[in-house]
Amino acid sequence: MEKKKITIVGAGNIGSTLALLLARRETADITLIDINEGVAKGKALDIMEASPILGFNSHVVGTGDYKDTANSDVVVITAGFPRKPGMSRDDLLFKNYEVVKSVCEQIKRYSPEAFVIVVTNPLDAMTYTALKVTGFPKERVMGMAGVLDSSRFAYFISEKTGISVENINAFVIGGHGDDMVPLRKFTTIAGMPVTNFLSKEELEEVIERTRFGGGEIVQLLRTGSAFYAPAASILDMVLAILWNKRKILSASVYLDGDVGEYYGASGLCVGVPIVLGKDGVEEIIKLDLSDEEWADWRKSVDSVRKLVEKLPL
Ligand code: APR
Repeated sequence: MEKKKITIVGAGNIGSTLALLLARRETADITLIDINEGVAKGKALDIMEASPILGFNSHVVGTGDYKDTANSDVVVITAGFPRKPGMSRDDLLFKNYEVVKSVCEQIKRYSPEAFVIVVTNPLDAMTYTALKVTGFPKERVMGMAGVLDSSRFAYFISEKTGISVENINAFVIGGHGDDMVPLRKFTTIAGMPVTNFLSKEELEEVIERTRFGGGEIVQLLRTGSAFYAPAASILDMVLAILWNKRKILSASVYLDGDVGEYYGASGLCVGVPIVLGKDGVEEIIKLDLSDEEWADWRKSVDSVRKLVEKLPL
């Protein structure tokens, strides 16, 4: 059986961590590409030199040439500038727009059948950029944010309740910004409402921490942003596609038609629950939100819209 091919654009913290995680799964061969060719080549070689010890047979190659990415099944875009302390994700808009645009022109040329997973911030605006520049069907272009935000939410709930992360099913939708929407009603512990375990005040505390989860890491690291949990979150999405899991997870996808109208976000990419499988975004789920959640959702969508309107697209 032919192995799948995954290209990771950007061999920085997230890209290289993802390459190692993916290689260990032996599901695909991996091409790491970076504007700094030496970094891509060096990290790929370093990962391969771990393969005899860790015992994986995937191949990771580094390059600076898009020809080497040809015919990828999945392309993950992590290229761009990360946040510095005091910067919002939105401050990155124009710098990263140019990066994502140039990367997508190459993806379109060399891997016209690929699924594209965008990680570069500001996430929803960059996902929209990828969709427009590649011109790929909307089912094949998605942004990774909701899996990460939901994982942070789940971890914080676990920490607060003392219950295993394995029992926690947490969900965050909306734009990947400070007004993301951690859901109260649809977050459960072993199938029971989270409110059976946490008081309203405790839950609000956890929600607030989730919203600023990325910023908390930026403040601590001082020289970059989070990468272990983001890389794990991308892995979850890649495997959902390659293994045709039809997994329900939160991702930033293009909303239009009936579902766009339902969410009041037509023409935008925003985080919603999707079913992810071999055809990419196979379904978008309509959630029956509470009044409070709808209010938060609308605020979040407004923030995404304001950013997208600034884009020269
Ligand atoms: N083409 C290819 N690679 C590029 C380009 C480009 N045009 N521009 C920058 N890069 C590379 C950099 O050389 C660097 O190796 O992207 C990599 C980014 O890596 P890091 O700075 O370590 O950033 P990382 O923490 O991996 O985050 C990547 O994800 O969370 C978002 O906002 C964050 O946009 C950032 C992205």
